[in-house]
Amino acid sequence: MNNTSSFVHWFRDSSPYIHAHRNRTFVIYFGGEALLDNSFKDLIHDFALLNSLGIRLVLVHGIRPQIDKALALRQQEAKFHQNLRITDHNALQCVKEAAGLVRVNIESLLSLGVANSPMSGAKLRVISGNFVTAKPRGVIQGIDFQFTGKVRRIDHIAIQQQLDLGNIALISPIGYSPSGDLFNLSAEQVATEVAIALQAEKLILMTEQSCQSEKGQLIAQMTTDEALKFIQSNIALSINMRRALESAVFGCQSGVQRIHILNRTMEGALLSELFSRDGTGTLISLSPFENQRTAELNDITGILELITPLEQQGMLISRSKEHLEMHINDYRIIERDGLIIGCTALHPILNSSAGLIACLAVHPDYRKSSRGNQLLEQLVSSAKKQGLHEVFALSTQTMHWFKERGFHEVNFTQLPPVLQASYNHLRSAKALSKLI
Ligand SMILES: CC(C)(COP(=O)(O)OP(=O)(O)OC[C@H]1O[C@@H](n2cnc3c(N)ncnc32)[C@H](O)[C@@H]1OP(=O)(O)O)[C@@H](O)C(=O)NCCC(=O)NCCS
Repeated sequence: MNNTSSFVHWFRDSSPYIHAHRNRTFVIYFGGEALLDNSFKDLIHDFALLNSLGIRLVLVHGIRPQIDKALALRQQEAKFHQNLRITDHNALQCVKEAAGLVRVNIESLLSLGVANSPMSGAKLRVISGNFVTAKPRGVIQGIDFQFTGKVRRIDHIAIQQQLDLGNIALISPIGYSPSGDLFNLSAEQVATEVAIALQAEKLILMTEQSCQSEKGQLIAQMTTDEALKFIQSNIALSINMRRALESAVFGCQSGVQRIHILNRTMEGALLSELFSRDGTGTLISLSPFENQRTAELNDITGILELITPLEQQGMLISRSKEHLEMHINDYRIIERDGLIIGCTALHPILNSSAGLIACLAVHPDYRKSSRGNQLLEQLVSSAKKQGLHEVFALSTQTMHWFKERGFHEVNFTQLPPVLQASYNHLRSAKALSKLI
């Protein structure tokens, strides 16, 4: 595939996501470390792109390294208890300095409209404000945390008003109290509370590394229960990852549907997570996920439960248990909470470079949410990987569904000989084909 056609494919493949994300609210957290990195301007361009695609964007930044630097410049020691900073009067000055500096830097980068840069022509308005009300953490185990605080309230109406105007809301990890005090907050906590208050569709926590198993493998998905077990059992977990996971668990339990933990240092992590199926992050959600995978022998009972009613209605041809056992590796299923709610198969056609898509079914309770589409896309991509150039489908009632997905009707004589030989003339299914 040449560059142009791979670009066109990539762009087309990303269009459902562009459509799905438009007018949705995403809260994105990144640590103060991001600003120290040369690649930060690329992340800023990505934020600009999201904004231009109609995503309602709230950015929450951290300031930990900037506070440490300001303290070091004053030759003052950073004080912590149980990994939580104790913010005394001196540290509070550094917090103010750091928050101001970081905010101004981000605003300036977002204002950059330099010709020949990806930001050229982008007119972004960034709004900051007193959106966060805070209260002191108080004295814990005899330690007075002084100006280290917790979120008390988020002025979600004010933030929504800004988002309604197409502005980007930029929020620092500081909060104001009604008595006029200022508190140093955890940026992860602020981001989570903002996402909860706004009922955001997504909270994205951009951390300094990937969330990996002890064997070093990326963890693509976790339920909140799994995340809690992971936190408890993984003593080697970095403090930042622990904070991110704890925030994610709390966010999910408080109603945020999808929380992504992304490795900020990976080039394009944000865009690939949002606009492709091959994200590099960890998705945390309250309940177990749906999972699409290759079928195994012990899925056969579930597959039969799904397809038997459709066979009885004449929508699918009958398949015996033995047939499924023999061809189980051709099948893919969608499993949800242990229930098989979707299936389909790709049978390679002997003596040809084509495959037959068969047994496509989605449980009636779960239709019209693109599951059929996902199964088909997955089969087409697997057919490509197997080196096939064409896929066929035989359908009595679903011709239009296939046609809307790029298939066209073909004559019986255009079918590969093996398919012609097994064609059931009594059923008179229409033949459809798609070049891939
Ligand atoms: C066809 C089937 C797999 C689609 O599953 P799904 O998860 O609902 O698919 P999607 O969400 O990707 O697509 C839904 C869209 O297809 C449309 N659609 C569903 N069945 C259709 C059909 N027979 N003809 C045309 N369009 C159809 C829906 O109306 C919906 O469109 P809309 O949102 O614009 O109203 C599912 O309807 C099914 O299991 N049908 C019975 C079995 C069957 O006929 N299988 C095909 C054997 S060849």
